[in-house]
Amino acid sequence: MSETIINVDSVHKSYLMGKEAVPALRGVSLVVKRGDMVCLMGPSGSGKTTLLNIVGGLDEPGRGHVTIAGMDIVSMGEERLARLRLERIGFVFQTFNLLSNFTALENVEAPMVLLRRLGRKERRARAQALLAAVGLADRVDHYPSELSGGQQQRVAVARALANDPEILIGDEMTGDLDSKTGFEIMQLVRDLNQREGKTVVYVTHDPRMADYADYSVHLLDGQIVAREADPVVSLIGD
Ligand SMILES: Nc1ncnc2c1ncn2[C@@H]1O[C@H](COP(=O)(O)OP(=O)(O)OP(=O)(O)O)[C@@H](O)[C@H]1O
Ligand SMILES: [Mg+2]
Repeated sequence: MSETIINVDSVHKSYLMGKEAVPALRGVSLVVKRGDMVCLMGPSGSGKTTLLNIVGGLDEPGRGHVTIAGMDIVSMGEERLARLRLERIGFVFQTFNLLSNFTALENVEAPMVLLRRLGRKERRARAQALLAAVGLADRVDHYPSELSGGQQQRVAVARALANDPEILIGDEMTGDLDSKTGFEIMQLVRDLNQREGKTVVYVTHDPRMADYADYSVHLLDGQIVAREADPVVSLIGD
């Protein structure tokens, strides 16, 4: 049995709209093992982004427990949580979210600057290597506006890997890309999962993108209603 890296236990979350509480998650429990690639699916408004943001420590549950690598992130102070995110979790979003005044190289360097573990030279070299690994060795000095959508998302993946996180989190990573480019990004993420053992949790609407996962978790109205595993993968995985 492999180690649990993410444990979500009986999580509830509501958003306050004026005086009314809008339920987004209603008792969600999910265990993710280290090295798993998990896809969250479900209709619009079912709570996918809310769950992903809670798993990534970007949002907190109203009730319930969440641990990352055995650490309780709900009771953790904001400063320690920010540090945990910076060190252990890489985020990739639908709209790439690159800094437009920074080159590809500078975007990838940014999380390393924040972590302050590497000196300038090492940072540069690592950013260059990460961009080469996502196929952008010849685009390091380009600004986001000078890159295609797929290339921008590759930069975002390289940036997410900057501090060598154990967990990659993606919300509709391929939502703004044509399907061919979307498949390329998913294959890149799958390779990182298989070669480097990164744990991946991602949201998609597209069943073809869900096929890259070891298993899918289906949400409906804030609850998990189904889990679908590829039987071969789950046999090997256990
Ligand atoms: N900031 C917010 N304020 C109020 N309600 C919110 C907020 N964010 C989400 N919600 C509500 O919580 C529920 C879950 O939203 P969430 O964004 O998690 O859904 P989703 O599954 O990611 O949907 P989509 O596929 O459209 O991205 C929805 O009913 C939504 O209206
Ligand atoms: Mg969403």
